[in-house]
Amino acid sequence: MKFKEIKNSVYYCGLNDCERKIFDELIPLEHGTTYNSYLVKGSEKVALIDTMYPKKTDLYLKNLDENNITNVDYIIANHGEQDHSGSIPALLEKYPEAMVVTNAVCKNNIIEMLHVDESKIQVIKNDDELSLGDKTLRFMIAPGVHWPDTMFTYLVEDNLLCTCDFLGAHYTFKEDEIFAPDSKELEHSAKRYYAEIMMPFRGVCKKYTQQVKDLNPDMILPSHGPIYKNPKFILDLYADWTADEGKNLVLLPYVSMYGSTEEMIDYLVEKLNAKGIKTEKFDIVTGDLGDLAMGLVDATAIILGSSMVLASPHPMAANVAYLANLLRPKAKIASFVGSYGWGGNLFGKLGEMLSGLKLDVIEPLLVKGKPDSNDFKKLDEMVEIIYTKFSSYHLV
Ligand code: FEO
Repeated sequence: MKFKEIKNSVYYCGLNDCERKIFDELIPLEHGTTYNSYLVKGSEKVALIDTMYPKKTDLYLKNLDENNITNVDYIIANHGEQDHSGSIPALLEKYPEAMVVTNAVCKNNIIEMLHVDESKIQVIKNDDELSLGDKTLRFMIAPGVHWPDTMFTYLVEDNLLCTCDFLGAHYTFKEDEIFAPDSKELEHSAKRYYAEIMMPFRGVCKKYTQQVKDLNPDMILPSHGPIYKNPKFILDLYADWTADEGKNLVLLPYVSMYGSTEEMIDYLVEKLNAKGIKTEKFDIVTGDLGDLAMGLVDATAIILGSSMVLASPHPMAANVAYLANLLRPKAKIASFVGSYGWGGNLFGKLGEMLSGLKLDVIEPLLVKGKPDSNDFKKLDEMVEIIYTKFSSYHLV
């Protein structure tokens, strides 16, 4: 594969992974992903920015050969996670004169995880510069998007910014087009990616979104997905997703064994919609966790529905509560509805699992078997409370 030039001797040398169906063994991939690596040829030195997922190392090295890359002086490691650092040991064997350049936190990760010799790593600090001759690399330490070791690399003369995982998307290149379309399809992939990988660090992401806006790069070169020739496209989306206020949206994930819990969820949807409140019903059993995570990006309220199994919430509802707690969405309000046969404590365990979120919990409703007229009255009260709160947030 011939490397594509992005701008002035800066090349894309990463790979598509169209076959990959799931990332982190958690979120299904709709379009596979890419592992981006960038080759920067200065007048005196050559640098690779980020490397390759270990399983793709052989192909990555073969492509470097086919493009006659006989010398690499610097391997810039923006992040220690192995989808970007995994090929460093193989690169150091291929180019023994190369030095790995990274920050102190990432250095430790690379030594501990990949067993790279310390003498092969050059440590830089925030704002340090590295000259390649007619090109300068400037490093911006950006801990928390999404690991403590993350940094960005700015190509000063070309005004290009390599943002590592930040601002990326699990999205493969169509017909080898490496530049991003400003499309709804890419927006969807970038939002799923943000939900799983960046949302737990929303405050930090918000800060770096503004910092990147202020830098005003000509292009953003992330480590997954296409290159943004129009940085505004992804920066505006991040500004929206990282905003402190949620949207007019109640997310209702549920699992229902005999239909009673779903009946209550459907009733809530109908009554909330009648009040002008938008809803997203999510069947936990058949749904895609990526869609659930996307709903969590925007929702101001979550109502979790669960049948009881062995006097406890259904394990699939527990999985959703556990995931939501990890992803740290901005939702402010929660409640729970459920149905049991012979016993159970619906809120106790689910509430505990969501304890990492600062949620205002509306009185949950647990019914025996099918809901009756009295139960529907309680659901009406739940809707009224949500409406009052949404009104106070100026969402309806
Ligand atoms: Fe794409 Fe955090 O690695």
